[in-house]
Amino acid sequence: MAAQLIDGKTISEALLNRVKAGVDARLAEGRRAPALAVVLVGNNPASEIYVRNKKRSCEKVGIRSVAFDLPASTTQAELLAIVDQVNADPEIDGILVQLPLPAHIDADAVIERIDPKKDVDGFHPYNIGRLALKMPLLRPCTPRGVMTMLEMSGIDPKGKHAVIIGASNIVGRPMALELLLARATVTVCHSATADLAAEVRRADIVVAAVGKPGFVPGDWIKEGAVVVDVGINRLPDGKVVGDVDFAAASERASWITPVPGGVGLMTVATLLQNTLDSANLHA
Ligand code: GUN
Repeated sequence: MAAQLIDGKTISEALLNRVKAGVDARLAEGRRAPALAVVLVGNNPASEIYVRNKKRSCEKVGIRSVAFDLPASTTQAELLAIVDQVNADPEIDGILVQLPLPAHIDADAVIERIDPKKDVDGFHPYNIGRLALKMPLLRPCTPRGVMTMLEMSGIDPKGKHAVIIGASNIVGRPMALELLLARATVTVCHSATADLAAEVRRADIVVAAVGKPGFVPGDWIKEGAVVVDVGINRLPDGKVVGDVDFAAASERASWITPVPGGVGLMTVATLLQNTLDSANLHA
């Protein structure tokens, strides 16, 4: 079987159009445009690219972005003071602190300081807790974006066995909660999983979020499975690939996301969706 492509470009553009319509509807009612504070500490090259993409996408849909580009020497107290400032600013709806933060800063403490109603990353324990309790408010962008991709491709996780590879706070754990909410049976694998190949071979839906190029070989994929590749890995020759051996997996899967042009585009589009949702929550 040759897999059908879950095209992140088409789906993210549809989502961006929907967000733009939501922004325009606010403006038509005389309300202000949503505003997102984007906080970047230091000069991690990958983070700089992500942040630039996020700011550009904001412009496309009419969301105002407010940049805080801080030096790597920023102290934890200084960063917390900036979070307090944007928390208190009634003109700001969403706050994004790009991760990773420099090693001298306690990222968990920074995330906990963000007002949960402005936490457009959905990383605050309050928002993760709400997702775990079947009452989501702001949902982490990548897992929510994956759910949108499945929905727009007509794939219903209900009753399916979903296997997630990776248990990070940003992707694996909230992805498990999203799929559980959608009534899948969920297995979360990680570096201590005894027989990863056996787990993945049972999966109707595989979500790979490992961060290692080609980590999932094609022969782990069950015939007809749905494959979602969250990995974005740059090879020494500059080529960007996912965590899954795309060519081999495509021979067996029913649906598969490409890299690039897959989940990565959805993460950014979903951030803007969350920013609109956040604005509509309180302003
Ligand atoms: N670093 C990698 N992914 C993300 C994300 O989704 N949000 C933030 N803030 N930082 C990240």
